[in-house]
Amino acid sequence: MERFSCRTQIISGPGAVQELKNLGIKSLLLVSDPFFAKNGMADRLAKLTGAEKTEIFHKVMPDPSVELAAEGTAIVKALQPDTIVALGGGSAMDCAKAMAYFSGDSVRLVAIPTTSGSGSEVTDFAILTHGGVKHPLVDSKILPDVAILDSELLQGLPPSLVADAGFDVLAHALEAFVATGAGAITDALAKDAFSAAYGALPASFAGNTAVRQKIHTAATMAGLAFNQAGLGLSHAMAHALGGKFHLPHGRLNAILLPAVIECNAHSAGAKYAKLARSAGLGGSADTIAVRNLKNALIRLRRELKLPQTLQEAGVDPREVWHSSKDIVGAVLADPCCQTNPIKVEDFMVRRILEEVTGRV
Ligand SMILES: NC(=O)c1ccc[n+]([C@@H]2O[C@H](COP(=O)([O-])OP(=O)(O)OC[C@H]3O[C@@H](n4cnc5c(N)ncnc54)[C@H](O)[C@@H]3O)[C@@H](O)[C@H]2O)c1
Ligand SMILES: [Fe+2]
Repeated sequence: MERFSCRTQIISGPGAVQELKNLGIKSLLLVSDPFFAKNGMADRLAKLTGAEKTEIFHKVMPDPSVELAAEGTAIVKALQPDTIVALGGGSAMDCAKAMAYFSGDSVRLVAIPTTSGSGSEVTDFAILTHGGVKHPLVDSKILPDVAILDSELLQGLPPSLVADAGFDVLAHALEAFVATGAGAITDALAKDAFSAAYGALPASFAGNTAVRQKIHTAATMAGLAFNQAGLGLSHAMAHALGGKFHLPHGRLNAILLPAVIECNAHSAGAKYAKLARSAGLGGSADTIAVRNLKNALIRLRRELKLPQTLQEAGVDPREVWHSSKDIVGAVLADPCCQTNPIKVEDFMVRRILEEVTGRV
């Protein structure tokens, strides 16, 4: 039995933020980060809503903490806005989702992603960091009511953010496609999202802004897919390593994905092969198609100037091995392991760590 639902209204296309005028917002709390406060975009969008009462909370930092979400929640309780608009990447959207949730108030949530990556605009998840560990808050109540996908907000995306967030999209699509919760509907979304993002990322990275709406839509499609199908070991490890070493989430997935494909291939090979073929990566035998998929991701990682190992990303390998017990523990406790196509065991995590860490 497959169930699929998404109550988020998705408004998509260049200039789509103009729709903020038509949402009947009277009192607004806009949640964003210092970047959008400084460049004036937070103010511009707040004005566009035509709200009578407006507040801007612009303190969100990458990988928002539980403490920050609590600070924001107190502001929601004090202001009682009818609408929260989240403007930013996964971090701003997750923080806003947690603030709305913890306030317990019935407040409308409008998500405006400014990176093409997390898919948070259509998911039940908010990832909060506490004590060096990333914790997913999962509840259908935190699903945004409206998602606005406007590529005009992405014109100034720096290439490194195109690359980091882009690999998050590929990881969401790939992991959702082989996850234990996958079905025909999530497969269609994941397959299209993977092909679109894989095909368009080099051009976007090189500065072609015309392809950005395509990747932006793919990010949301991958979000819709993984929200129902689940994720897997790459995300479980990216959460554990991200909480500890504070590297961008998508960059960690870029480092991990090829090794995770190798680990899962003996059970999920046929599906990986299907995804590879649909992205034009061919291979008559499944084993060849899986190898092509893995090599294509390694090539793309190089083309997008992403690190090949944790060491290349600036992590001292000795620190990884020093805290390996904690890392393995956090990976095994992460809910993403539960939907990985094969049962995740201690030794698998250690083997992948050996492959991705780099030499001491
Ligand atoms: N909720 C979910 O379903 C879900 C899924 C995947 C990842 N995540 C979480 O999302 C976070 C990562 O999100 P992200 O990759 O979008 O990055 P991010 O939100 O952490 O933003 C990274 C940096 O990019 C800047 N930025 C954002 N948009 C920009 C733009 N248009 N131009 C210039 N700079 C811009 C931000 O100011 C910030 O400094 C992680 O915390 C991850 O755990 C959540
Ligand atoms: Fe992700």
